[in-house]
Amino acid sequence: MTDKLNEMIETAAAMVSKGRGVLAIDESTGTCQKRFDSIGVECTFESRRDYRHMLLSTEGLGEHISGAILFDETLRQSSEAGVPFVKIMQDNDIIPGIKVDKGAHPLAGFEGEKITEGLDGLRDRLAEYYDLGARFAKWRAVITIDEVNPSQACIDANCHALARYAALCQEAGLVPMVEPEVLMDGDHDIATAYEVTELTLKTLFEQLYEQNVVLEACILKSSMVVAGADCPEQADIEEVAEATLNCFFNTVPASLAGIVFLSGGQSEIEATEHLDAMNRVENLPWPLSFSYGRALQASALKVWGANPQDNVKAAQAELSHRARMNGLAAMGEYDGKLENE
Ligand code: 13P
Repeated sequence: MTDKLNEMIETAAAMVSKGRGVLAIDESTGTCQKRFDSIGVECTFESRRDYRHMLLSTEGLGEHISGAILFDETLRQSSEAGVPFVKIMQDNDIIPGIKVDKGAHPLAGFEGEKITEGLDGLRDRLAEYYDLGARFAKWRAVITIDEVNPSQACIDANCHALARYAALCQEAGLVPMVEPEVLMDGDHDIATAYEVTELTLKTLFEQLYEQNVVLEACILKSSMVVAGADCPEQADIEEVAEATLNCFFNTVPASLAGIVFLSGGQSEIEATEHLDAMNRVENLPWPLSFSYGRALQASALKVWGANPQDNVKAAQAELSHRARMNGLAAMGEYDGKLENE
């Protein structure tokens, strides 16, 4: 285990190295269809390839992007000219990652709640992904807040699965990125989001401990502590940063390799501002960075969608810009004035 473990510890450190974060482009085909519908582009094997090739071949992307999470199809794809995406990423200093869960499905016996599936056969899939060049993996669990939820059973089942997945990843030499997403949907207030996130993270780290997961070779991908999208009282940037950090101080061991955030429906600017506010606090026990999907892609997707043939460079410029802004936020050095440069 030692060589493998050292490799994973190095990979995890590289993923959250200074001023860098992870690009999430692991949308399932169904989710990609929704994104492409919004820009009026047909969602096919080729259009998904062209879009993701555009993103991954952005010049200098590796300066602020340390790794990218791919969907199974994308890890096996090559550019139209025949260059494997994995090679393009390696040449750009971007670590290939892979989403390995099989999606969130209804949790039997608990209306409105979900359990993430995908453990059966995972050992063999992970070995193949390692051979294909992946060095980290992602598994997303979703926790829903409403009048009666979440139940303890839903949190327990999802955290147990996350820890089983993480242990299998480390056995295969892949850094596990464990993602328990507390959804922003609903009208709950920030105090409720805090309570649910705290309970989820406490349960998750108990499970990771019980199942012998090495935290130095593990990354947490977390939601921020924010009020539900329909809550009439929205917290400001400072309140979100403070609540999120306090929640982590109470739940996340200092030995963890790092924490990255999902954007979960926040705008591009909000996601950057929140990350920056947290990184202005000195002497945090873990690197704190980003692993945004929508908050890195939204502008690039829109520009590309307006004319996929001609707008490649313009769309890449949008992605580069957001990567740079979030890279600065990961060091607490973001300034809103840079948005208009
Ligand atoms: P968003 O940043 O769009 O929430 O996506 C990140 C992700 O990987 C969710 O699993």
